[in-house]
Amino acid sequence: MRKWLMAAFAAALFIAPGAALAQQQPIIIKFSHVVSPDAPKGKAAMKFKELAESYTNGKVKVEVYPNSSLYKDKEELEALQLGSVQILAPSISKFGPLGVREFDVFDLPFLMTDDARAHQMYASPMMAELNKKLEAKGVSPLAYWDNGAHVYTCNRPLSMPDDFRGLKMRIQGSKVLDAATRELGALPQIMAFSELYQALQTGVVDGEDNVPSNILTQRFYEVQKYLTVSYHGRLTYALIVNKKFWDGLPDDVRAPLTRAVKETTDFFNETAAKDNADALEKIKASGKIQVHELTDAERKAWIAKLMPVHTEMQSRFGKDFIEKIYKASGFTPPSS
Ligand code: LMR
Repeated sequence: MRKWLMAAFAAALFIAPGAALAQQQPIIIKFSHVVSPDAPKGKAAMKFKELAESYTNGKVKVEVYPNSSLYKDKEELEALQLGSVQILAPSISKFGPLGVREFDVFDLPFLMTDDARAHQMYASPMMAELNKKLEAKGVSPLAYWDNGAHVYTCNRPLSMPDDFRGLKMRIQGSKVLDAATRELGALPQIMAFSELYQALQTGVVDGEDNVPSNILTQRFYEVQKYLTVSYHGRLTYALIVNKKFWDGLPDDVRAPLTRAVKETTDFFNETAAKDNADALEKIKASGKIQVHELTDAERKAWIAKLMPVHTEMQSRFGKDFIEKIYKASGFTPPSS
């Protein structure tokens, strides 16, 4: 009698923890994105995985899906709202389908030409108002990642605004980017990031704007002849989660994840600043594309040409809102 009791007790000693462990399967966090693993966002996604798994002692497992391998631009936002993926870091220029059109305003030409203004903007209380609108759509923004300023690439040299006349230019989805492209006399084409290389290669579009790290890691410079360093706009990501998923996390998981988000955001902003500067140098050194830095006179001509977009957007967003954005970003419209 006693022997089988001892044996059963011994078995319980060994199985119980195993069973408990089996019951505590890690919480899976799927992180989908559209850029290459060696672009700033690709590196940051892996940094988040490393920190999240370490700070939660393995209570979460982060699965990273780069290069649109799980979802393309539009699909990934839908998947997040449905809960088929838990975390994303899309460009805020693609938030239109979420129905929070106010984010388009960040694409106003020359609104945030330098890093300091952008960081000032994303640290401003203004963002809290916009975050609430996103939360109403079932999406919680955890952080904003600044991936620097845009440059143009094209099969035609772009020095003066008139050089855009009649070109087909790929844009991300925002209405402001659409208006700015039309103001330059070009035809805007919204297109998923994953389709862009081929579209440039085959001439479906003549050009696009992006940050140097994307142009390098996606090899756009191999299928374009000219690059203009215009810094006319910015690429900002919002690190967003499915709200129900995030709110439903146990406190002892959400707290270490929040710490991982904070440290990953610092890592991202540092990495992006360095990688974009390095990428522009590497692209220049490749000799495969002709690089032109806008002169002050050319920049003035671009700003004058594109200011009507700011005025046009006042009717869309309201003068007060636009002025709040100017104040938060430190932008002063040029005196006419
Ligand atoms: C683009 O579509 O050009 C970018 O938003 C891609 C990205 O996520 O960097």
